[in-house]
Amino acid sequence: MRIAIDGPAGAGKSTVARAVAATLGFTYLDTGAMYRAVALAGLRGHPDPAGATIELGDGVRLDGEDVTTAIRAPDVSEQASVVAADPAVRRALVATQQALMRSGDWVAEGRDIGTVVAPDAELKVFLVADPSERARRRAAQMGADPAIVEREQAVRDERDAARQDSPLRAAPDAVEVDTSGLSIDEVVAAIVALARRLD
Ligand code: DC
Repeated sequence: MRIAIDGPAGAGKSTVARAVAATLGFTYLDTGAMYRAVALAGLRGHPDPAGATIELGDGVRLDGEDVTTAIRAPDVSEQASVVAADPAVRRALVATQQALMRSGDWVAEGRDIGTVVAPDAELKVFLVADPSERARRRAAQMGADPAIVEREQAVRDERDAARQDSPLRAAPDAVEVDTSGLSIDEVVAAIVALARRLD
């Protein structure tokens, strides 16, 4: 079974997707980490960032180096949303993601899983939350000022939603879940229940 979890930054995708995967015994795929790794490769002057070797496991490796922490830096977040608008980068990463998901049980998290990577996924979830709530969560994680995080988030949201190639939007048959007033456990339980109903 493949479960697609899409939505904007800060809607709770990573925490929720990881927990759903752990509960069901599925493999978790963080596609944002792949865009981040390509962005980091570019910032470091890699001659072909989209062709760099990215390994996802317990952490993230770029050409063999552990970059799990490095890819979360603010300049990498910014650059990731720039490289994610590049069709050549998207083509390369989508092909890798589709190859990975060809067999086995997956919970894949991103922006285009339900629309592009796995439009035939058995379950598609689109997580949303209000912008100030999303910024508050991100700021708490990073120890940053929520007002600044919200401003930067708005710029990235706009870029992710307005880009021509695979803009962020829900698949027509995605279940939309607003996480604003819900706990992580409540969101996870709802998605796990939906998945078990399909079994
Ligand atoms: O989810 P994240 O913040 O780690 O994602 C990093 C960037 O990559 C963000 O700008 C959105 C983009 N992205 C994308 O365009 N498609 C995906 N499947 C995953 C992430």
